[in-house]
Amino acid sequence: MRAVIPLGMAAAIVVMGLVPVRFSDGALAERAQAAIDTLQQRLLKRLLHEYQQGGAERGVRVCAEVAQVLTEQVGAEQGVHIRRVSRKYRNPKNAPDQWEESVLRQWEEQLRRGEPIEEVAYWDGSGKERTYRLMRPIRIAMPLCLECHGQHVQPSVLRLLRQKYPRDNARGYKLGDLRGAFSVRIPSPEN
Ligand code: HEC
Repeated sequence: MRAVIPLGMAAAIVVMGLVPVRFSDGALAERAQAAIDTLQQRLLKRLLHEYQQGGAERGVRVCAEVAQVLTEQVGAEQGVHIRRVSRKYRNPKNAPDQWEESVLRQWEEQLRRGEPIEEVAYWDGSGKERTYRLMRPIRIAMPLCLECHGQHVQPSVLRLLRQKYPRDNARGYKLGDLRGAFSVRIPSPEN
């Protein structure tokens, strides 16, 4: 797959580090977005199903077992590296790397200023080593999220969370808060 991004622009993107997705190669963006859409739908569908079967406690048990598995599956199916990241992560595997951290900070700053936030794309490296990266914000979009990420998590759910994630940092959120991001990498996309 050929990237249509002009060299000059690629260099500018590397320097700036943070560029709205409209400046990046459309086909790669679409591939990354398709992977994110798929993962988002699968996670939510599974969460809702488990929640209906046995409330937040069952949700936590299943999430702890399947969130990472579903994420890897979608990545393999779509031929990309995909994960969820957060600055206040529950699972240490979801800790952001340097670029992800800088994007999350930038979004937080934009939200503080009352500005909208949007997906960003970035070219990492150069030549054959280039990696296309894209991040999409994850907000606390519905009250359901608060059952496990809110300020008042039920004691029984809290106990389970502490058991499975002794250093859990992913609580204290309110509706609308930035929770984290989907983050996609497509290495050497031209080869
Ligand atoms: C039933 C409990 C539960 C609910 C409800 C829930 N989550 Fe989570 N969430 C978890 C668990 C458990 C993990 C850790 C998964 C793992 O091990 O990767 C997690 C992880 C995450 C992560 C990855 C970053 C991290 O902290 O490790 C994001 C992002 C996230 N949740 C967002 C949401 C959003 C948005 C909602 C609402 C749509 C939501 N969650 C609802 C339990 C829940």
